[in-house]
Amino acid sequence: MAISRMFQILILSLLYFTSSIVLAANPTYNIQSYGAKSGGKSDCSKAFLSAWGAACAATAPATVYVPPGRYLMRNVYFDGNSCKNNAITIRIDGTLVAPSDYNVIGSSGSWLKFERVTGVSIYGGTLDAQGANLWACKNSGKGCPKGATSLAFYNSNNIRINGLVSMNSQMFHILVDGCRNANLVNVRVSAPGNSPNTDGIHVQQSSGVTIMNSHVSTGDDCVSIGPGASNLWIENLACGPGHGISIGSLGWEMNEAGVQNVTVKTATFSGTENGVRVKTWARPSNGFVRDILFQHLVMVNVQNPVIIDQNYCPNHEKCPHQGSGVKISNVKYEDIHGTSATQVAVKFDCSKTRPCSGIELDGVNLTFRDKPATASCSNAGGTAEGVVKPSSCL
Ligand SMILES: *[C@@H]1O[C@H](CO)[C@@H](O)[C@H](O)[C@H]1NC(C)=O
Ligand SMILES: *[C@@H]1O[C@H](CO)[C@@H](O)[C@H](O)[C@H]1NC(C)=O
Repeated sequence: MAISRMFQILILSLLYFTSSIVLAANPTYNIQSYGAKSGGKSDCSKAFLSAWGAACAATAPATVYVPPGRYLMRNVYFDGNSCKNNAITIRIDGTLVAPSDYNVIGSSGSWLKFERVTGVSIYGGTLDAQGANLWACKNSGKGCPKGATSLAFYNSNNIRINGLVSMNSQMFHILVDGCRNANLVNVRVSAPGNSPNTDGIHVQQSSGVTIMNSHVSTGDDCVSIGPGASNLWIENLACGPGHGISIGSLGWEMNEAGVQNVTVKTATFSGTENGVRVKTWARPSNGFVRDILFQHLVMVNVQNPVIIDQNYCPNHEKCPHQGSGVKISNVKYEDIHGTSATQVAVKFDCSKTRPCSGIELDGVNLTFRDKPATASCSNAGGTAEGVVKPSSCL
């Protein structure tokens, strides 16, 4: 009797302590409490960094909160080295807006830069980088800054981005570089189809990146995949306008990390320049691309729905008379259908020095103006099964 009574007390006090821990958890740091003012006129960078600093100093999971409204932000560096918290949520109900003068952030590389952080989640929010004046400068051929990536994660782990809208970036909208485990869900990128270098999401030197249920409309690649990307999963993507999904450009360097295990599943490309592309420089390199699956893709009036281009050498500069050294193998195209905006819907232009191998076509039906399109192959080996239109040239 006494023992069970003691046991009861023990359980009750345990419950009491755990509930008080739960209640104490998740402190919220509102950027307005640190001096941020909405209205888009006063610089909120310092206030944001102070709220971030407070969250970093906490040991329990913490939230940085951005209330509704527009907040002007200069370029901000979120440094994980001085952060001891590995569960920070940044919940954004408002819009972060870049300075209207593109020079303020235009040479800094990134606008919002996270480096060496672990366990950062960004929920909601709109990023408006106001890139239009910089694009106009670039399109006029004047000397302009390169432009900043809107949201960059470098050398970081366990990242989650859910429900973010990124618009009008000066350059790339989102960059994942040197990361392990990044989950991007319900992301929306929007910039005009003629805005230069405004890639939607660029992934390189990273493993375990997932991009789900997202929509990218932009002036360059919807998703671009650089050297050292592996175990990348893209599912339910709507792309267009834009340049499609591109693995590459690869093979600029002689010693370059390869790309492997990439899945693109269930995606629609509308009016894009490419659908799914692999692109390598016509230069010596020991890079590679292998174990790629493109599955359940719909092409709507796409210029190059399926393309491998291993002879990339704009203006024939810096790669004279070279084949690409990048070895492409085991690339599967399964259930790809819709319309091509050009006659050649499937083009495998592989390296003469290192031909493509293990290309697989399984269920392809692409038409051009209601008639069968055509396919073209050079230095490409592989197999075809099921309906394949245009007929395979492998
Ligand atoms: C390929 O990547 C996926 C994640 O995209 C992962 O689940 C799978 O285990 C990887 N396969 C190999 C062989 O590494
Ligand atoms: C290929 O697609 C066209 C246009 O959508 C369609 O009319 C045709 O029946 C399809 N062919 C096969 C074999 O699925």
